[in-house]
Amino acid sequence: MATIGIIGSGNIGSNVAKAAIAAGYDVVISNSRGPESLTHLINELGENARAGTTEEAAEAGDLVLVAVPLGKVGELPADALAGKVVMDANNYYPQRDGRIAELDNNEATTSELVQRALPDSQVVKAFNHINAKDIPSDGTAAGTLDRRALGIAGDDHAAKALVVSFLDALGYDAVDMGPLAESWRTERDTPAYGKRVTRAELEEILPIVERVQQV
Ligand SMILES: NC(=O)c1ccc[n+]([C@@H]2O[C@H](COP(=O)([O-])OP(=O)(O)OC[C@H]3O[C@@H](n4cnc5c(N)ncnc54)[C@H](OP(=O)(O)O)[C@@H]3O)[C@@H](O)[C@H]2O)c1
Repeated sequence: MATIGIIGSGNIGSNVAKAAIAAGYDVVISNSRGPESLTHLINELGENARAGTTEEAAEAGDLVLVAVPLGKVGELPADALAGKVVMDANNYYPQRDGRIAELDNNEATTSELVQRALPDSQVVKAFNHINAKDIPSDGTAAGTLDRRALGIAGDDHAAKALVVSFLDALGYDAVDMGPLAESWRTERDTPAYGKRVTRAELEEILPIVERVQQV
């Protein structure tokens, strides 16, 4: 079974780890303080999880999740992530991340900034508009009535296909928003942000959502 590398062990990282392990994946997870600080989480996640450095999580992952605050993206190990498909769960909170002019002016999306920081990776927006704690519990089998859907975006079709299959394994339909430049459609303060939506509902919302100023 494939291994998911997870960089960031907070709300998003730990909950995607739980869901991935429940779906049969192995997980290598990291944080900023080092593997020894993750003993409690690894005990909770069980034998299919291990702690690593960020480089180890990047290198081990057949698919990698970046679950660090946006302001920390510059610290990611770009070399170890080269050639990898990287899921980006980021949202922009200026109070936490500092003001970023390109986002304030709607000239870029958070995922485009992550892609710029990881030029040799294929970045795919994923998991940014679901509350982290819902990830292990809201997934259902494919074909279930009212199955929850999550938006994805990316510039590479094969990378997006890999993420679609990962989301499906975790119990979610994926709706493709297009390239990274379109990933604002599920960013903060948009209608699908934090809301439980089905594929049909998300497909209806995405084309008509208006871009808001990130204040
Ligand atoms: N919380 C949610 O429900 C939710 C939902 C969707 C999207 N998001 C977005 O996802 C991103 C992560 O949010 P979160 O709530 O998971 O944050 P969080 O709970 O604060 O966790 C952040 C994690 O990133 C780690 N980290 C920071 N710098 C690092 C570095 N240089 N190398 C490795 N790890 C590093 C931290 O390590 P330490 O623990 O060692 O400090 C921590 O484990 C944010 O952009 C957020 O807006 C969050």
